[in-house]
Amino acid sequence: MVQLAKDPLISEFDIKVRLQDLVLDIARDLKQHELTIIGILRGSFMFTADLVRLLYTNDMHPLIDFVYVTSYAGSESTGEMKLLKEPSLDVRDKWVLVVDDILDTGRTMHYAVNYLKDRGAAQVRSCVLLDKPTRRIVDIHSDYVGFTIDDIFVVGYGLDYNGRFRDLPYIGMMDEPVE
Ligand code: IMP
Ligand code: MG
Repeated sequence: MVQLAKDPLISEFDIKVRLQDLVLDIARDLKQHELTIIGILRGSFMFTADLVRLLYTNDMHPLIDFVYVTSYAGSESTGEMKLLKEPSLDVRDKWVLVVDDILDTGRTMHYAVNYLKDRGAAQVRSCVLLDKPTRRIVDIHSDYVGFTIDDIFVVGYGLDYNGRFRDLPYIGMMDEPVE
């Protein structure tokens, strides 16, 4: 049975340290705008929560909302995206920062960014904790990236394996290759 590997790939401390810098970049670029943060459920819940608490220490008080975007089936992205929850806030003419846990094939972020542009957002920027550039299928990059990682299936800090391990305060791996 596949189990959680003992050692973290990225520790809780390293995430904390990296987020401080990431938020300084975001504040430098976006502080002058009234910002709406749109987290992509479910994977971004922990990252979004930590980001906004750090933005607060940089005197930024964004509006916060979530969308729920998922691909149709399985752990391997099928390519077809489904919107299970629309934003509750009106993003028309707003500067939006979309937040997700990971940029993998890029389909989720691509879908979310286009959706928000279609809803009339003035500008859409994106922020991900993790980037796996070698897995990219859609040509997209993120404006703010926490860590670039190799093609390894990771869990924790919002990311799951079959629904589990979202609760970990660090980024971990499984003890055997999955997918
Ligand atoms: P994309 O649409 O392929 O970029 O995938 C993004 C979504 O796939 C993320 O929001 C995650 O939910 C999920 N995902 C991609 N890679 C991983 C991983 O290594 N562990 C857990 N979930 C992942
Ligand atoms: Mg996700």
